[in-house]
Amino acid sequence: PVHDARAGGAVRPTVIAHRGASAYAPENTLAAVDEAAARGVVWVENDVQRTKDGELVVIHDDSLRRTTDVEEVFPDRAPWKVADFTAAEIARLDAGGWFGPAYADTRVPTLEEYVDRVERNHQKLLLEIKNPALYPGVEAQTLKLLSNEGWLDPRHLSGRLIVQSFSADSLRTVHDLKPAVRTGLLGTPPVAELPSYAGFADLVNPSHTTLSRSYVDAVHALTGPHGRRMEVFAWTVDDAPAARTVAGYGVDGIISNKPDVVRRAVYWY
Ligand code: G3P
Ligand code: CA
Repeated sequence: PVHDARAGGAVRPTVIAHRGASAYAPENTLAAVDEAAARGVVWVENDVQRTKDGELVVIHDDSLRRTTDVEEVFPDRAPWKVADFTAAEIARLDAGGWFGPAYADTRVPTLEEYVDRVERNHQKLLLEIKNPALYPGVEAQTLKLLSNEGWLDPRHLSGRLIVQSFSADSLRTVHDLKPAVRTGLLGTPPVAELPSYAGFADLVNPSHTTLSRSYVDAVHALTGPHGRRMEVFAWTVDDAPAARTVAGYGVDGIISNKPDVVRRAVYWY
């Protein structure tokens, strides 16, 4: 969040491009990262899964079907699970043509390619470990890759990386392996359960449709693993009225397919 002097010190939420600026470029591709950068959006969210031969790749669904041309290229490989294809096979797929002809040469990025692009653009990363139950050891593997790429250097760490998951077990594993990494639990756990996450989650990230001011207050009342107030990033907010509503609840971040629309709604300059 940004303290805005012109708004009398009010706190403006961080805006995060969901799967990149995915309303304007194909989700979870380098084009969507660049599209966020071109619109002045610093934070990008992505989804990490693993290929048959153990490469981490950036894609949302556990199947390649919706966001690539896999059905045409490998017609006999239904149901086209990410985990059933090698990285070399996935590299042959078009991950942008479904979105529009201008993106027909877009590929499914490896996580390594993805973080390099985020870094080159001077952006920050909200990395989701997607479907961790399908990929044993994915937490350690992801942290190792981030470490190799310089992302866990303590000089940069606190400001530019958050790891999130719907799986509390996965987040606890991330926290145990690298306690310095900030983590976010996706979903809206009951208020009574929130204290049980405060030992390993810095944020609770609910769907905006489930959110209320009292829920945000309940999260904010807790202290996270790094000794700071726990925060709330709400998803996925794509219109100005909804953005103003959740900003009014006091959320710390808003995750959006149209981050420019959200920013205009909650920052008036
Ligand atoms: O960042 C929040 C959001 O990405 C969680 O849902 O399905 O888009 O990964 P999903
Ligand atoms: Ca996600």
